Amino acid sequence: MDTQLESLRAAALVEIESASDEASVESIRVKYLGRSGSISIVGEGMKTVSKEDRPRLGKLLNEVRQTVTAAIDERKTAFAADADRKAFDGIDVTLPGTPLAPTGNLHPITQLLDRTVAIFRRMGFQLADGPDVETEWHCFDALNTPADHPARNEQDTFYLADGHLLRTHTSSVQIRTMENQPPPIRIIGPGSAYRRDEIDATHLAQFTQMEGLYVDRGVSVADLKGTLEFFFRELFGNDAEFRFRPHFFPFTEPSFEVDIKASALGNRWLEIAGCGMVDPAVFEALNAQRGDTAFDPEAWTGFAFGFGLDRLAMILTATSDIRHLTGNDLRYLKQF
Ligand code: PHE
Repeated sequence: MDTQLESLRAAALVEIESASDEASVESIRVKYLGRSGSISIVGEGMKTVSKEDRPRLGKLLNEVRQTVTAAIDERKTAFAADADRKAFDGIDVTLPGTPLAPTGNLHPITQLLDRTVAIFRRMGFQLADGPDVETEWHCFDALNTPADHPARNEQDTFYLADGHLLRTHTSSVQIRTMENQPPPIRIIGPGSAYRRDEIDATHLAQFTQMEGLYVDRGVSVADLKGTLEFFFRELFGNDAEFRFRPHFFPFTEPSFEVDIKASALGNRWLEIAGCGMVDPAVFEALNAQRGDTAFDPEAWTGFAFGFGLDRLAMILTATSDIRHLTGNDLRYLKQF
């Protein structure tokens, strides 16, 4: 048995050495070490070997198996490395690679939104959110705009069959926030709003608004003015001038429209935002809904504001037609 094993080992090593490719190495493995390979068959004979010989022969059998396996593995690795080397033949791997497809850039509205959020964050405002598909209550009733209120006509929107609607303004985020959180509150809520406008160069049925709400003890119109003026100066430069004109919104009292004039915006007066002091009726609607008195109008006051980002983005990018903002035309978008 000793000689049998020794000669099998010698034969296997010679064959492995002279194998021409990986496949033939594999068939040598099967021939010697496979289930019915010659080394395995000799191993079967171990059962009949005498007790004295068994340890020595067992050790030898293991050694033979190991040397042959090692030789096979080594040869296979060498063939694989060879194949790798051939694949790179004639290729200079130190040359710079092909650049990836050019990366895109952020949409002009997203860029403006990012700057807007960053400035309000510095003033301690948190981001708040609400759904685009709203209930009438969040979009109108809770904002002191009952079903027969004329303001509903001006903000006509898209109604779903189940009574939900696409929000006509982000002011619903004020309600969503106050429903879930007692004062003090300092939030901004950016997002889409929808109106049934005829689409043309200056109107879309979907636009982007930024809502703000600040509720605390002793908040005044001076805080509202200071906050908005600081914000718009940060965005458009220190030369910005402002006009706060009395206006009407059902959910603020008093209410204002804000005009701005700044060189960054072409040095003409622009109507830029709506705002005002939160109407106590809004606080009362929330107390009724919450079933508590968290928003006691005697204890808390607040201001709210809202402005559109689309027209500002258009001015900043000298875009003449609002439809470019949603047109997905790369020739337009790549410029920013
Ligand atoms: N929601 C109003 C609009 O869309 C803007 C506004 C927001 C006014 C908050 C006052 C307070 O025109």
